[in-house]
Amino acid sequence: MAAPLISPSILSADFARLGEEVRAIDAAGADWIHVDVMDGHFVPNLTIGPMVVKALRPHTTKPFDVHLMISPVDPYLQAFADAGADIITFHPEAGPHAHRTVQAIKALGKQAGVSLNPGTPAKMLDYLYEEVDLVLVMSVNPGFGGQSFISSQLRKIEAIRKSIDKTGRDVRLEVDGGVDAVIARQCVDAGADVLVAGTAAFRGGPDCYAANIAALKGVG
Ligand code: DX5
Ligand code: ZN
Repeated sequence: MAAPLISPSILSADFARLGEEVRAIDAAGADWIHVDVMDGHFVPNLTIGPMVVKALRPHTTKPFDVHLMISPVDPYLQAFADAGADIITFHPEAGPHAHRTVQAIKALGKQAGVSLNPGTPAKMLDYLYEEVDLVLVMSVNPGFGGQSFISSQLRKIEAIRKSIDKTGRDVRLEVDGGVDAVIARQCVDAGADVLVAGTAAFRGGPDCYAANIAALKGVG
């Protein structure tokens, strides 16, 4: 089985040195850079906006995997696209027009991702598979790093993998929340091909990043 792509979440980086942290995690083998955007409304925490994404853009050429945990989402898509996002992922639970939001992201020339909270059934995606580039399964309730993986989400990953394969389209299946090297294997076996990791990627500081990423890929 191919090694998964690893998308370290900068939520677990040192925010006082974010540019250096992005360079270090890039050099350590990160495939994508996961940026968690929270609004204190859709999720009970506040993080960063497009200005920070723009400031980080010159620090890496790796794709910016921007996870928008905000409501409403449509008014902010252009700003994140302009700031340098490559993949823009949103939650259909955050608004009534998921299909429209996917179209808006694609119209900006970006890859569109749809993310489901742990309590949301996979069925919500049925009429989006033909349009999206990525599905993000939240394996914790979004809002904070460092939470425990909710194992029921493995069944959801398996179901979504089957649906993606049926479409014959190249849709990435990403998992976010509580992923460590052991859980990484379970997610890959269930059909995931991209893993987000905050705590497990940034644990121990820059000297550990390469080993952390290798362990998550299953080659460490
Ligand atoms: C949670 C975020 C995650 C989180 C992952 O709301 O979407 O990306 O930072 O962090 P860990 O890997 O520590 O669970
Ligand atoms: Zn995230």
